Amino acid sequence: MSHATIGVIGAGAMGAGIAQVAAVHGHPVVLADALPAATAKARAGHAKAMAREVEKGRLTQAAADAVLARITYVDGVTAEALAAFAPCDMVIEAIVERLDVKQQLLRTLEPIVAPTAILASNTSSLSIAALAGACTEKSRVVGVHFFNPAPVMPLVEIIPAITTSADVTARATAFAASWKKVTVLASDTPGFIVNRVARPFYGESLRLLEEGVADCATIDWALRTVGGFRMGPFELMDFIGHDVNFAVTRSVFDGMFHDPRYRPSLRQQRLLEAGWLGRKTGRGFYEYADGASQPAPTEDPVLAQRIVDRVLAMLVNEAVEAVHLGICSTTDVELAMTTGVNYPRGLLAWGDEIGAPTVLARLQSLQFETGDDRYRPSVRLRHAVQAGASLLDARRYS
Ligand code: NAI
Repeated sequence: MSHATIGVIGAGAMGAGIAQVAAVHGHPVVLADALPAATAKARAGHAKAMAREVEKGRLTQAAADAVLARITYVDGVTAEALAAFAPCDMVIEAIVERLDVKQQLLRTLEPIVAPTAILASNTSSLSIAALAGACTEKSRVVGVHFFNPAPVMPLVEIIPAITTSADVTARATAFAASWKKVTVLASDTPGFIVNRVARPFYGESLRLLEEGVADCATIDWALRTVGGFRMGPFELMDFIGHDVNFAVTRSVFDGMFHDPRYRPSLRQQRLLEAGWLGRKTGRGFYEYADGASQPAPTEDPVLAQRIVDRVLAMLVNEAVEAVHLGICSTTDVELAMTTGVNYPRGLLAWGDEIGAPTVLARLQSLQFETGDDRYRPSVRLRHAVQAGASLLDARRYS
């Protein structure tokens, strides 16, 4: 397997990173992009990354040169250009997040590769079944979702569609595992595991802001110092960019047929409309211009605990619900959130530590006070409480 040829299409942030991962692990790699400027940028990025590995003593010069020599860069995605992908055992597409464009690419690519080749997508939000729908052999299409930056982040979500064969899922998982990635298995549902279960970190924090419970600086401070998260939600949204973060929320909300649990925030939409996209535009919830003053948090431990309790109850509920609906296993939801978004601990273990009855009571009280179904507790949470069971207990309640 170590010498299987890997194809990557789309040489942007994700595609370039994925190509690097495969090349570092010994695979010949073919990397294409519609734009020659993108392949040129990826090539320069790879050279820089390998130079850094040598500088840090992690690779010899010869090994770094060998990694770079294993990558073939292809300009354009016409059928002629894609002929370079004929020897690939797996092709991962990481092009623009548009269903019609991805489907068109798959239609062009499928007849070029061997019938046994895996066609994988790095999509964050599209249905894998919809991508498979564009192919003649639907059993070979699978989601292989890396996190940014791909060479650094350990998690890969493997997402079989209803059409995907068990063999393709197993082979895609084996590739990612051989690249020293932590793999989790997710069902083909909006947001897969991480982008679904993480929604309340943003959504509930935005709700607290909108309700005037506290300002951004205080909520960020609470979730960092009391919650133990690396970044607060507002600084994290500013970092990710509101265009990207809002689009993910929106696609999960739409994909879930407008379930109020995933309702986007008007406050965030206004930032987006105003072009205050966060760090990259110099302004989001915070200002990033040189010399801009940063608002100070209200360092009130009682208020901070209240904020953290509410966000955590929602996060734990979301993790429990993902297990309840068969999106993933108890083990995988813990792995996904700790390795995909660096949560300080798994949400089920965290829920156990808080106490499942306490989490349930908090949600019931929020649901009662607000009348809003976004707070409805997962059936599985109720069952675990009734059974006096750990949230990590993998049993199925019926
Ligand atoms: P990007 O904008 O950095 O790169 C996309 C690349 O695809 C560009 O270089 C563009 O020229 C190229 N492209 C567009 N249409 C093409 C086509 N028809 N054929 C060939 N190349 C084409 O985007 P990024 O962030 O790398 O995202 C790529 C995919 O990965 C998307 O599906 C995205 O949802 C997914 N993803 C993104 C993550 C992120 O944090 N940026 C994380 C995980 C998945």
